[in-house]
Amino acid sequence: MGFLEFIRKARGDKGSPLVLALDLKPDKPSKLMRRARSILEAVAPYACALKLNFHLILPLGLSGVKPLLDRAHDQGMACIADVKLGDIGATNEVAARHFFEAGFDALTVSPLAGWEGGLEPLFELAHGAGKGVIVLAYMSHPGASETFGLRAVGPAGEIPLYRFFVQKALEWGADGLVVGATRPEVIREVREVVGPHMALFSPGVGVQGGRAREALDAGADFIIVGRSITEAEDPAGAAKAILKSLSA
Ligand code: XMP
Repeated sequence: MGFLEFIRKARGDKGSPLVLALDLKPDKPSKLMRRARSILEAVAPYACALKLNFHLILPLGLSGVKPLLDRAHDQGMACIADVKLGDIGATNEVAARHFFEAGFDALTVSPLAGWEGGLEPLFELAHGAGKGVIVLAYMSHPGASETFGLRAVGPAGEIPLYRFFVQKALEWGADGLVVGATRPEVIREVREVVGPHMALFSPGVGVQGGRAREALDAGADFIIVGRSITEAEDPAGAAKAILKSLSA
């Protein structure tokens, strides 16, 4: 089963579009691991995927996070490395190989490197192995408008840069796009452009002010939530409350 099929099945089985961003504040590796395990156990019934980034991958290493990925898989969750790769092709390929061998099912990339000599080897590696590639289209934080919101002049005339990234992601055969939940109007526009097949992931819910329900109504498939869950006294309760807000 390829990544998209896997994560969509997980969403259906769990009845949840929630991707748990297991972002923990710096601590000793042993304490980080204990807390990560505890939050994962508590939230797994309410989340279809686990997303890790530098908060855990740097202090614990790839072999250190592997037990978390194994546990998430046991719980029917897909695993995403949110590392926004965007180097030259040879470097992207080596990095992606490490992430996939560690057990991740998909990773995030920046579109800036372009295709030839940039993202091409990574896409080939990923798709040859049934793994997913998720491209940043428009990030959620305020400063994203300084770059993603720029006007770009391309072969089809002047369009916003994020629209150019979306077109490229379609050409490249990306599995998903990241569009911030803080920009539901952009989610709506991107969904119209990409059609139903491409998965849209929306971070920025909660702490950054985005609303899960609004992002999903606008066309997002998955909502990514970190601190509102990981910093809650009751992470499972926080996850349940987010799911409840979707049906309210
Ligand atoms: P919070 O704590 O804000 O965490 O729920 C969001 C997670 O998603 C990652 N990420 C992004 N966050 N805009 C974001 O706000 C983006 O465009 C984006 N892309 C990925 C973030 O690193 C954190 O893990």
